[in-house]
Amino acid sequence: MANDLEKAISTIGVIGAGQMGSGIAQLAATAGFSVLLHDSDSAALARAEGIISASLRRLASKGHISQAVPDEAMKRLKLASSIQELRTADLVIEAIIESEAIKKKIFIELDKILKPSAILASNTSSISITRLASATSRPSQVIGMHFMNPPPIMKLIEIVRGADTSDEVFAIIKSLSERMGKTVICSQDYPGFIVNRILMPMINEAFYTLYTGVATKEDIDTGMKLGTNHPMGPLELADFIGLDVCLSILRVLHNGLGDDKYSPCPLLVQYVDAGRLGRKRGIGVYSYQKGSNAAALKPRSSL
Ligand SMILES: NC(=O)c1ccc[n+]([C@@H]2O[C@H](COP(=O)([O-])OP(=O)(O)OC[C@H]3O[C@@H](n4cnc5c(N)ncnc54)[C@H](O)[C@@H]3O)[C@@H](O)[C@H]2O)c1
Repeated sequence: MANDLEKAISTIGVIGAGQMGSGIAQLAATAGFSVLLHDSDSAALARAEGIISASLRRLASKGHISQAVPDEAMKRLKLASSIQELRTADLVIEAIIESEAIKKKIFIELDKILKPSAILASNTSSISITRLASATSRPSQVIGMHFMNPPPIMKLIEIVRGADTSDEVFAIIKSLSERMGKTVICSQDYPGFIVNRILMPMINEAFYTLYTGVATKEDIDTGMKLGTNHPMGPLELADFIGLDVCLSILRVLHNGLGDDKYSPCPLLVQYVDAGRLGRKRGIGVYSYQKGSNAAALKPRSSL
C-alpha cells in the first residue's frame, strides 16, 4: 500500500532555499521528482539555483552521479516566486528559519492552498511537529523530515511522528526517504528529537569550555576530533550548522524539557547577537574570511 501511495507523490514543493532547502530540492530532483522551490527572498532563490547546479556538476565530475543527471535534475527543478505556485504539490517540505511562529504561519497558508491529500513535512531541527500540525486541518498528514546537512551527502533522515501522524503517512515518507537513498530513524515528537537532543548539549558544553577559559577553540576541537574520533570538532560543527540555528534548538530544549542543563551558553548568545552566525556569514567561532587560517577548515559532516 505504501508503495502505491508513494507513486502518488510526483511533485515535491520545498519552502526555504537556504542551506537546507536548496540541498533538499537538489536531492528530490536527483531522485526523479518534479520540484517546486520557493523562498520569500528572490535573491536567495536565484542563489540556490546556482548552488544546486554547481553541486550537481561537482558530484558528476567526481563520479558520484552519472553525467546525465545534472541536466535532467535541473530540468525537473522549477523556481517558484510565489507560494501559490506550490498548489499542485503532493508533498511540501518546509525548510525556513527555525521559528515556530513563522513556520505555523506557513503551515496555515499551505493548508489552505494544497489539495486535501497533500502531505506537509517540516525539516525543523527541534520544533514540535504536533504543534505545527495542530495549526492545520490535516494533522494526520503532518510529519517531521529532519534531513542532515548537507542533504545530498548525509545518509540519515530522522522522521518525526507528531501525536496524530497516521501510520499511512509515516510509511509513505519512510519509503520516499529510502528512495532518496537515505537511512531512516524514527523519533517521537519530543524537543530535539534524537540527534539534536544529544548533539546540542555537547556543542553548548564546548561553548562553556571556551567561555570559562578551559582551553582554546582549536584545542577543544582537536580534543574532540582526535580524542573521541569525531570527524569535526563541536565548535567547527556549530559554525557549519549556523550559530543561530544552534541557539534556537537549545532554547527549544531548555523551554520544552524545563531543565537548566540546556540553558544556552552566554558566549553563544553573544556571538549570535553580534551577527557571528558561522560559515554562512563568514564568521562565527572561527573566521572564514579570505586569508584567515580557519578558512582552510573543510567540514565534511554535520547534523
Ligand atoms: N543548518 C543545519 O545544519 C540544519 C540541519 C537540519 C535542519 N535544519 C533546519 O532547517 C531549517 C532551515 O535551516 P537553514 O540552515 O537552511 O536556514 P537558512 O537561514 O540557510 O535558510 C532559511 C531560508 O528560509 C527563507 N525564509 C524565511 N522565512 C520564509 C518564509 N516565510 N517563506 C519562505 N521562505 C522563507 C530565507 O529567506 C532563507 O533563504 C531550520 O528549521 C533548521 O532548524 C538546519
